[in-house]
Amino acid sequence: MGGHPMSDIAIVPGSAHPALAADVARILDAPVVPTALERFPDGELSVRLLEPVRALSAVIVQPTGPPVDANLVELLALADACRRAAAARVIAVVPYVGYARGDRRHGRREPIMASLAAQLLQTAGVTHLLAVDLHAPQIEGFFHIPVDDLSPFPSLLNAVRPDLPPDVVIVSPDLGRLGLATRYADELHTGVAVVHKRRLSGRQTESLQVVGEVHDRPCLIVDDMITTGGTIAGCIEALLRGGARREIRVAATHGLFVPGADERLRHAGVCRIWVTDTLPQPTSEGDKVVVPVAPMIATAIRQLRP
Ligand code: R5P
Repeated sequence: MGGHPMSDIAIVPGSAHPALAADVARILDAPVVPTALERFPDGELSVRLLEPVRALSAVIVQPTGPPVDANLVELLALADACRRAAAARVIAVVPYVGYARGDRRHGRREPIMASLAAQLLQTAGVTHLLAVDLHAPQIEGFFHIPVDDLSPFPSLLNAVRPDLPPDVVIVSPDLGRLGLATRYADELHTGVAVVHKRRLSGRQTESLQVVGEVHDRPCLIVDDMITTGGTIAGCIEALLRGGARREIRVAATHGLFVPGADERLRHAGVCRIWVTDTLPQPTSEGDKVVVPVAPMIATAIRQLRP
């Protein structure tokens, strides 16, 4: 990327994704603040910045993927440490925001976890949030600080484009991603289909019916995240019932891949998956391609300079 070294910022890596923090620091030619992160014998977290961040923009890099609570608390502790160490600004780069799916109450006597997480981050001293593909854009409304919700769409599109057959159909696995699927389809000059999905529980979904023309067509399913792989597997079943060709590709931003997900996706017949590295991923191999987000994040940080 080039550009001038950034002497007014310091990258503070959390333990959730040090490789991403290092990539961002390298692109920006910015210093990395070493930290001492330890657990007391009773499990409590101990955090210490080993170099000053006084008067600097402290950029904490910490996705809050699994283990979500531990990573979130670590992010809060780092933000509090930066604030108390007199950082001029505390910028939280949270490429994957845990609890983003808790953006509303689904029934009575439930919390709104995304709102609670937002309040905690602000209380801890975060002054700016950089996220990637927030599950629901309205989550920004839970914050009173600036939020930049970066879209990896251009990078994912560039990565998938050369591999797609001309008759591919872009499929949204539920109504929530229909806008995204339409964006892909517009760029690729092809058609869109959407699957009617019902969530039965946190672990189980049911994909009922495909709306759109998929008969004898290869498909690209697009989604924001893959956790258990249940949504994708159900979507594939519905597509095959609708006569789609057994040539299904998947592009998603966040690859959580909880245990069992990879096998479920293989068994469902996915022939290739593209995910970004908002969360740590093994390097691209075989049918899984990892699309880096560090260049996009670095560009966004450059643009935050006062
Ligand atoms: C749901 O609203 C999301 O966009 C994803 O489709 C879902 O969270 C993926 O989770 P899983 O892989 O467990 O079905």
